[in-house]
Amino acid sequence: MAETPERVYQFNHSHLLGLSDYSAEDILYVLEQAKTFREVLERPVPKIPTLRDKTIVNLFYENSTRTRLSFELAQRRMGADVVNFSASTSSTRKGETLRDTIQNISSMKIDMVVVRHEGPGVPHFLTKCVDASIINAGDGAHEHPTQALLDLFTIQQIHPDLRGRKIAIIGDISYSRVVRSNILGLKKVGAEVTVCGPKTLMPAFVESMGANVSWNLDETLAWCDVAMALRIQMERMGQVTDLFPSLREYHHLFGIKMAHLEKYPDFIIMHPGPINRGVEMESRVADSERAVILNQVTNGLAIRMAVLYLLSGRVRE
Ligand code: NCD
Repeated sequence: MAETPERVYQFNHSHLLGLSDYSAEDILYVLEQAKTFREVLERPVPKIPTLRDKTIVNLFYENSTRTRLSFELAQRRMGADVVNFSASTSSTRKGETLRDTIQNISSMKIDMVVVRHEGPGVPHFLTKCVDASIINAGDGAHEHPTQALLDLFTIQQIHPDLRGRKIAIIGDISYSRVVRSNILGLKKVGAEVTVCGPKTLMPAFVESMGANVSWNLDETLAWCDVAMALRIQMERMGQVTDLFPSLREYHHLFGIKMAHLEKYPDFIIMHPGPINRGVEMESRVADSERAVILNQVTNGLAIRMAVLYLLSGRVRE
């Protein structure tokens, strides 16, 4: 068993749909729990029986490597029964609606559903269809709360007090769910956020969320403690092909280079993956000591264990 945390906190959520529903205290509590699970992962046998009476379905309608493996591994490390659903090999292809699919799955007595879907709001919709805890693993360009939580956890390992911390998020701001969840989470815990990227990929809403906007990578890197680079989400742009001239020009203006690391010796580099080497950053930057990208992946496991633990048993019992 994971050690019982010292702090008693009333965590009152049945679902994790997005960080917009979570308070600063909720977020910090998840991070605190994740510390315990990070320790579990370092043990010779990194397994605990916390979810041994739970059945969880991973419902993935969109491609995923890290998030899907991380959720599944977290569930298995905690002893849950796990079933995986992939849209490409299921009856979705035979015309079944999302509601019918989920109600059929739910008839198999499922306790929790982890869902990734291209439609913003699908996780919210599922809460109306089934009696199970729903965890959003990415809904279109809307939210990706466990990614933001693992990002906050990774920053906290280096800078324990997140208040006043300067975080730059660089890249495709328009089409990223990671940026929305990160701005929400970071602002709630008192960090400062600057988003930096091409004007054509910069939506008006970021300023209303409390983020600063910059068009200048050099100034942004001189300012920040953390530089989080984001992928250009081509798959969400649809028919729009003229949002920036070329990936080469994008890299020239917004790619993080070795010269930046030499010029500004303090900031660390993060990326949610998958990285497009030579676009968001030079390949050597991704492999440098300043990058904590693989640590983000390990922390993702601890965060997902913490979220599963906190939400388990809150709906069906
Ligand atoms: C992100 C996603 O799927 O939103 N990746 C992830 O979950 N690790 C970012 C991306 O696809 O670029």
